[in-house]
Amino acid sequence: MALVSLKVMCEKASKGKYAVGQFNINNLEWTKSILQTAQELKSPVILGVSEGAGKYMTGFKTVADMVKAMIEELNITVPVALHLDHGTYEGCYKCIEAGFSSIMFDGSHFAIDENIEKTKELVAVCAKKGLSLEAEVGSIGGEEDGVVGLGECADPDECKKIADLGITILAAGIGNIHGKYPANWTGLRFDVLEKIKKTVGDMPLVLHGGTGIPTDMIKKAISLGVAKINVNTECQLAFQEATRKYIEEGKDLQGKGFDPRKLLAPGCEAIKKVVKEKMEIFGSIGKA
Ligand code: 13P
Repeated sequence: MALVSLKVMCEKASKGKYAVGQFNINNLEWTKSILQTAQELKSPVILGVSEGAGKYMTGFKTVADMVKAMIEELNITVPVALHLDHGTYEGCYKCIEAGFSSIMFDGSHFAIDENIEKTKELVAVCAKKGLSLEAEVGSIGGEEDGVVGLGECADPDECKKIADLGITILAAGIGNIHGKYPANWTGLRFDVLEKIKKTVGDMPLVLHGGTGIPTDMIKKAISLGVAKINVNTECQLAFQEATRKYIEEGKDLQGKGFDPRKLLAPGCEAIKKVVKEKMEIFGSIGKA
């Protein structure tokens, strides 16, 4: 199956009161683990690529070609979107060129007028090519790949202005944070989420920072209009822990070193477990 945009996927999720997971990829093993889990569970899935991860994988074209080939060779039939995560203005154009099916333009650090102007331009470009566009208002807290957000809550009126430009889906800060949540975190701001949803109407919403948000909060956010949830750190932590354990157990080739395929296998299994758990919570299993 060819890559799809977020449009149909997230509209269906929004109507069906579930969310599609965006899982960020960093290499071939992560990509394969996520695709295989989505296929096994008959769930739609979004592969997220940060600009840093794109660079690490040698560029967006390598990523797009790898994902497309993998979908074909693994016989993946569930809907898969390849989505730029927190794209810069320049990064968006590079991913459009490289063959991504969806992009996020993160203009949240610009003044609202500049965010509107750039988002509007990208809406037109994406519409011509049948790609989906995620926009952001109110930065997400924490740091991700060098992008630091202070975590302010989005202004519902600004959300409406951006939503009305014709974007596909809106990421709005509601007290969510990338990475681990600090012990003194006071939770998602459902009052803000409700106000935003009221102003933007049918527009599906995105919840970033999906790692470590309690299940009841995730479910409440979905009931209030969240149709896409991003998860990155939890896969990283699970991968790291499984790999560390494997090395500590000393499963090398009798002192000759580690076979890279065996070394990475426990991490892949750990990622599959996280993806499955998240898909269960998000309610996307069987929705492909
Ligand atoms: P976490 O790293 O907190 O899971 O957030 C991922 C994310 O929001 C990617 O945009």
